[in-house]
Amino acid sequence: MYRIVDVREISPKVQRMVIDAPLIARKHQPGQFVIIINTEKGERIPLTVADKNPEKGQIVVIFQEVGKSTTEMACRKAGEYLFDVVGPLGKATHIEKLGTVVCIGGGVGTAPMHPITRAMKEIGNEVITILGARNKDLFTMEEEMTAASTEIRFTTDDGSRGRHGFVTDELQSIIDSGKKIDLVIAIGPAIMMKVVCNLTRKYELPTVVSLNSIMVDGTGMCGACRVSVGGETKFVCVDGPEFDGHLVDFDQLMKRQQMYRTEEAIAMNKYNEEHPGGCCGGHHD
Ligand code: NAD
Ligand code: FES
Repeated sequence: MYRIVDVREISPKVQRMVIDAPLIARKHQPGQFVIIINTEKGERIPLTVADKNPEKGQIVVIFQEVGKSTTEMACRKAGEYLFDVVGPLGKATHIEKLGTVVCIGGGVGTAPMHPITRAMKEIGNEVITILGARNKDLFTMEEEMTAASTEIRFTTDDGSRGRHGFVTDELQSIIDSGKKIDLVIAIGPAIMMKVVCNLTRKYELPTVVSLNSIMVDGTGMCGACRVSVGGETKFVCVDGPEFDGHLVDFDQLMKRQQMYRTEEAIAMNKYNEEHPGGCCGGHHD
């Protein structure tokens, strides 16, 4: 059992949860994730660790309320216990001094990007961060990402903050400025990562992406997370979550992400019927 230290909504339907998990806090490296099981009968929810405090023995996860399980988890309170937190899982990011690294965080994909950005800067890279969101209220971890970056730029789909456009428009501007880029790292919706990779492929810029496939066990046993990378089948949970973005079959990834859409909608509708106004009456403490 893992104690919830704090849980709060940081933007609409996006929660930041601090969890007592001393062993994970000590061992976790940038890029790795955990699987959270909220209650004994709960689903396994894979979430990348957004921050940690090894001295306090705490980890931070940021998650979006997208279905029944994450909605239920958002209603947990500080002082309560999660049934299980498994991890750290997956391979750590390869952190190396390369020169200039562009870190792109799309929406809630910014959270897993945070420890990577920080580590890339700490080792001596110039880190240019691009954060993209649908509107100005949807940026997550802005303060932390500013501290973790040499320079930070913002884009919004509706133009309410920073550049009016997508993260790829800002990346194109950096490329057009003639700046030498040694590595691009992109984390966000699959479509964003696909479009980033299409752009960087044209300029032969090495690009790493972190994939959020459907997962069950998280240990390489079930095959639920399989993706095609360079024509080979890989398991995101043990071979990733990070891969060379130019080799990933994003169309297959997106298709597989939709696999349980109908079942998820049925579960969510049933949940809403049973909990009108949400499990905590629509109010978070
Ligand atoms: P979103 O749909 O609001 O997109 C965020 C940003 O991505 C946009 O503002 C835009 O700049 C960029 N983007 C989106 N579509 C694009 C396109 N076609 N071309 C270029 N850029 C594009 O994101 P959100 O709703 O905040 O995030 C939710 C998504 O992020 C979910 O799909 C979730 O699964 C995914 N996610 C991924 C990871 C990961 O590890 N890869 C982690 C957390 C969440
Ligand atoms: Fe089962 Fe990766 S989640 S093999």
